Order: sequence, then C-alpha cells, then structure tokens
Amino acid sequence: MASAEGPSYWLGNETLRVPAALFALNRKRVCDRLRNNRNVPKEAVVLLQGGEETNRYCTDTGVLFRQESFFHWAFGVTESGCYGAIDVDTGKSILFVPKLPESYAVWMGKIHPPEHFKKKYAVDEAHYTCDIAKVLSAKSPSILLTLRGVNTDSGSVCREASFEGISKFSVNNTLLHPEIVECRVFKTDMELEVLRYTNRISSEAHKEVMKTAKVGMTEYELESVFLHYCYARGGMRHTSYTCICGSGDNSSVLHYGHAGAPNDKIIEDGDMCLFDMGGEYYCYSSDITCSFPANGKFTADQRAIYEAVLKSSRAVMNAVKPGVSWPDMHRLADRVHLEELTKAGILKGNVEDMIKAHMGAVFMPHGLGHFLGIDVHDVGGYPEGIDRIDLPGLKSLRTARTLQERMVLTIEPGIYFIDHVLDQALANPAQACFINSNVLRRFRGFGGVRIEDDIAVTASGVELLTCVPRTVEEIESFMSESKDEGKTLSKVVLSQGL
Ligand code: GLY
Ligand code: MN
Ligand code: MN
Repeated sequence: MASAEGPSYWLGNETLRVPAALFALNRKRVCDRLRNNRNVPKEAVVLLQGGEETNRYCTDTGVLFRQESFFHWAFGVTESGCYGAIDVDTGKSILFVPKLPESYAVWMGKIHPPEHFKKKYAVDEAHYTCDIAKVLSAKSPSILLTLRGVNTDSGSVCREASFEGISKFSVNNTLLHPEIVECRVFKTDMELEVLRYTNRISSEAHKEVMKTAKVGMTEYELESVFLHYCYARGGMRHTSYTCICGSGDNSSVLHYGHAGAPNDKIIEDGDMCLFDMGGEYYCYSSDITCSFPANGKFTADQRAIYEAVLKSSRAVMNAVKPGVSWPDMHRLADRVHLEELTKAGILKGNVEDMIKAHMGAVFMPHGLGHFLGIDVHDVGGYPEGIDRIDLPGLKSLRTARTLQERMVLTIEPGIYFIDHVLDQALANPAQACFINSNVLRRFRGFGGVRIEDDIAVTASGVELLTCVPRTVEEIESFMSESKDEGKTLSKVVLSQGL
C-alpha cells in the first residue's frame, strides 16, 4: 500500500504534489463499503477499465487524452488503455497496462515494463492487459464487480469493463456503481487539498482576466488569458468544461462558448461580462464564475442586479451546514432574488405569491449548484431514494440531497434576462401580473449575472474555496488598480525608451 512518503504526481515549480496515497485511500474506502454490503460475497474483485485514446474522426490525429473519472478516482493513472483490479477482502490492487508495439518506442517514447507502473502508482502488482484473464483466474475471485450505472446529469451509462475471456468469470455489474458513487460524494482531506489548489489557481486566473479586460477586446482573448494562466502557472492542461465567456446579451446564455457561439463577440462599453471558467489539475475540477462590467464601473442597473445575486449567494453560504436541504437553499436564493427584483422595480406584488407562481425560475432557470470533484458536475446527486423535484427551476437541480460534511458543491445563483423566458412569462397571466413591463424593457439585452463559488461543507458551515473580488467595491477597485498598474508600467516603459 502507498504511504504519504510514496510516489506522487507533480508538474514542477509551484504546482501541487498529489500523493499516490490519495488513490490508495479511495480504494480502501470503496472496499470498506463493499465489505459492509451483504449482497457482496467474500473474495469479490472490483474491475475498472480506464479510458482509451481516440483520434479525430477518421484521421490519425489524436485527441488530447483525459482519464475516465472512476478509474482516475481509484488509481490516479494518467496513461490510457489500462485496467485496475482491487481485491475487496484484502484491498490489494493490480494495475494492467497495455503491452505496447515496438513502433511506440520510435514515435511515442520509451516503453516501460509493468514494474515501472507498479512503482509509479504504488499498486501491489502490475501486469500487461493481455494477461488479465490469466492473472485474475489465478486469484479465483468469487465474482468480478464491474461498473455500470447511469450518470444522473447526462443520462449516459458508464462503460463497463470488458476483456477477452471475461465470460469465464462470474460478473456482477450493479453492486459497485452506487457504492463507488457514494464514496466520490465525500471528499477526503487529500482530495480537499487538490480542490483547494484547483480553486486557488483558477481564482488567480480569473483575477488575471479581470485585470486584462478592456472594451474592444474579444471574449476569446480573455478566455486565452485564463487558459494561459492555468496552464503556465498551475500545470492545468485541461479545463473542467468549455469556457463560458459571455459579454453583453451573451452573458444571459447559460452555456455560451460552445461551437455555435464560440466566445467570439467584441466586448463593448457598457457590457456586463459573465466569465464561467475552471481549471482542472490531475482530473480534479473547479467551477468559478465572475461577473463584472467590461469598463470596470457598474451602472446603477448593473449594481442592482449584481448586488441582488451577491445577496442570495451570501445568504446561501451563511445557511449551508450539515443537515440543510439543497432544494431549500435553491428556494432561499429564489426568494432573495424576488425581493431584490421587487426593490429594483422590475417586479411588483407579494413575494409569497410570486413564489407560488414560480417567478424565481423566470430569472434563474438553472439549479443553484451541484457537486464538484473529479467531474465538474460530480456524481451522486440522485442516489436511490432521492427524487428530482418536478417544478420550474428546482427540476434543474443536479442534486436534491441533504448536505453533509465533506460534500463539495458550487453555489452559483444568477439573474438573467433571457428574451425567450421573459416572453413566455409575459404571455402567462399568472406570471405577467408580477412584472412591470416598462421597467423590464430597460433590461432587455442586459444579459445576466452569475456569481459562482466552490465550497466544502464542514462540521459547522462552509469552507469557501474560491477567492476572487466579489463586492461591487472590490471589483471596481481591483479593476481600476489594475488599469493604474498598467498605466504606470507603460509610463516606465516609455521613460526607459523601450
Ligand atoms: N460551468 C457549468 C456550470 O456552472 O455548471
Ligand atoms: Mn460554472
Ligand atoms: Mn457550476
């Protein structure tokens, strides 16, 4: 078994060292759960299959590999084409690595023997994948536990391990999934350390973006600032998801930045910017949104909407602790939004009645937040017995669970002015009666504001992992100081005749 002094993943300089012991503990945790499950017989063996490299369509151009999340959680292996087995009774681990062709040594680099990977990943044994059937037969497992189950965010089923000769074994593909998913929901101290790191680097990268932002730049220029900072300073070759860099009306497009809307607008004076970006280190995610005015100074309307969202964010953050229901936190954010939108004159009437008419979802159609871990929308939101709430807004929640210590979540309230949603509300008399359409007209094209922080639930409340300027005053002074720094720098550069 690996110890804290054993091997680690490290990308040099100031990047984080992640001990292989993190994965040894994860394996131990899943074995402990499985041994407590009376449906799991003695001498069971877990078998996971790692991800495989792919090429672009029919070409030989490789797509940058990222490990499959469950396999990463259990083994921390960065190479593709591997399998991992864990003896549930003893916790002993076996890694299977592909036997590479000779041409690999010419095109890809040195070919290492299994012994190399045994040491690198601190597993008990390592063999070639072509020997899986032989090696596993020698252990005579009562059953192979493979992983099959639905991802409750995507609806996709994870790929179950398979190898030539598996038909000779007794296989169960249902017992493992709920147990390993439940382990992933609760983060260990070592995992929290990695999530603190991904958040620190991504927060700094967001600050770099805010410093650099100027009217006249394109959205993608700022995306590139984020990507550069995360990779150059943090060793983050991947982001946790496609960067969302919306300015002006684009800031109301919840998942802007995709191929059909690729962060390609020029940022204009008076635009609100909504930048939702998170770096990923060694497959651990972050998910942070900063909203700020492109020119560094909030208008009265921008301030009103921004402060409404900040108020709901902070109300939720102050309320979160073990035992609190996540849907209640969503309802709390909705309530604060409706109160503040009434103060701003956009809504009129009684907030209780607005809640009954589901007005919250008109301005925040998405869920308040989600689990975060190896996947940005991390697994475990809807285990058996927890059902989705089929109501506007709440149905978009990626979990409806009661919070417990060591859960890591995003808190990401937002208020958006989405034409399609506003038109539907105005056409619905049960909702239109709450809307001051004259005032609302002024906010058409405003875009939206989202404030997204990552938190870990502690015994008594939350640990805030994200650290970026958040109040209007903090943002305005941060952006103006950065502009002043820029001016001073260019003066120095000029006076030196450079
Ligand atoms: N960036 C996707 C999300 O906030 O959930
Ligand atoms: Mn996000
Ligand atoms: Mn999120």
